[in-house]
Amino acid sequence: MKKTFILLIVLAAGTICFSQSSVSLLVDGANAEYTISRHIYGHFSEHLGRCIYDGYWVDESMPVPKKDRIRLDVVEALKKIQIPNLRWPGGCFADEYHWEDGIGPRDERPTMINTNWGNVTEDNSFGTHEFLELCELLNTEPFIVGNVGSGTVEEMSKWVEYINYDGISPMTNLRKQNGREKPWGVTFWGVGNENWGCGGDMTPEYYATQYRRYSSFAKNYPGATLQKIACGPSGGDYNWMDVIMQSLGTGRRGVWGIDFHYYTRPPRNRMRPPGSGQAGQQQAQVPSQGSATSFTEETYFATMRNAFRMEEYIKMHDSIMTKYDPGKRIALVVGEWGIWTDPEPGTNPRFLFQQNSLRDALIAGVHLNTFNNHCDRVKMAQLAQTINVLQAVILTEGTKILLTPTYHVFDLFKVHHDAKMLPVKFTSPDYVLGDDRLPALNVSASQDSLGVVHITLVNIDPDNTITLSTTLNQINWSEVTGEVLTSSKITDINTFDKPETVKISPFKGAKKTGDLLNVVVPSKSVVLLTIK
Ligand code: AHR
Repeated sequence: MKKTFILLIVLAAGTICFSQSSVSLLVDGANAEYTISRHIYGHFSEHLGRCIYDGYWVDESMPVPKKDRIRLDVVEALKKIQIPNLRWPGGCFADEYHWEDGIGPRDERPTMINTNWGNVTEDNSFGTHEFLELCELLNTEPFIVGNVGSGTVEEMSKWVEYINYDGISPMTNLRKQNGREKPWGVTFWGVGNENWGCGGDMTPEYYATQYRRYSSFAKNYPGATLQKIACGPSGGDYNWMDVIMQSLGTGRRGVWGIDFHYYTRPPRNRMRPPGSGQAGQQQAQVPSQGSATSFTEETYFATMRNAFRMEEYIKMHDSIMTKYDPGKRIALVVGEWGIWTDPEPGTNPRFLFQQNSLRDALIAGVHLNTFNNHCDRVKMAQLAQTINVLQAVILTEGTKILLTPTYHVFDLFKVHHDAKMLPVKFTSPDYVLGDDRLPALNVSASQDSLGVVHITLVNIDPDNTITLSTTLNQINWSEVTGEVLTSSKITDINTFDKPETVKISPFKGAKKTGDLLNVVVPSKSVVLLTIK
């Protein structure tokens, strides 16, 4: 009797703490109007910390498979997630980079100081040819950002000619002299980076004028019609967007996209503890952005709230763009996104090396679902940054390599590349913490060229499962399979010793009941459903 009573209390407590919510989800196969561009799944790699050097590009003596000095295990891992484009050389670095220093015999290339990222000496051994060789190995499209902040119109114009022109010209000759016969035909060109900040501290009016000059002399050569991308705002800087769109977004100004940046940061209400990071002692008073690996549920909640701002910003920027471009001809490019935490203790704080947890994977899932659902305007995006920097998909340590939880999200979501977006309708249950609440469930869906439907679901609630009863409107289907990414704690990470703590597993929580698709989405998980 006593035992039964205790059991009942335990069960009741379980129900209170880990309850299920029931949701009706509609996936609308009848209204597939827009395509999810694969370019939403792009990546960003800067000359920063250990992303290029000691990331992709390693010492000749390192005993790993390499092509020239490019690590092939990294290439293989990135090929598996089919990265569609790679943005380079920055970031802030782009506006102090002079491309001509990075061509020709490597031992004759001048060095420079990477002033943004720790004043390290840049030896220019990884330049234009090396980057484009990497893109060829990855089978990805290059997205090159020109130097507007400290460069010249002539410099950018010649870079385009060097890379894209096949006729007789000084730049064609120089390229051939450096060993590349045929032009590469790069079409994605950024005209500066964050020119409101590290890219020259410009006003939007001044930048718009600069854009017109740089853009006028960045020419289309046969086989390479440029898709030029103007510097966009940071976060909620709606004035920047308005001025840029008013100046460049109408008529024939040659703008393909506007490059908007937003990072998710944990709340900045604590001090970084002394001794964290190389400069920890001096930086003890710097407000902390939060550890990548050790955080409370309160911090998790507040960070998630910041992640959800992405959708609010996209909606607002889209509505400003629509004033000038109602036909949605111009793309909103989310050129830098991801979680930005404190660097790992003991690493150079300017190298921005951070670990990556299940929380970060959930944030990636929320962002990618959001981009999918706004694919009428968001036609390109780049996660910052591919290897060893910020929300990386790969971490390396000497010859060792690991795939982060975020990598696995890109692996799951690659099914959406170039698929038709299917609108979804549902009312999310709340994830409640204290008096605060956030939508727990985040969803997108698409149908690929073979008619296969994919649904990606993110449940950010760390404790509660969500039960879905799904109607698939005008979709013929008979079977569902699934995969899931989760782990026991939101702080779980993959390490070089335990690289598979957070990994993809088969998902058994979906079944067909009559015409309905019933799903139990586990707490703190990303689920992919494949419906045929
Ligand atoms: O990704 C790190 C930095 O963040 C980039 O260099 C810059 O564009 C942004 O501010």
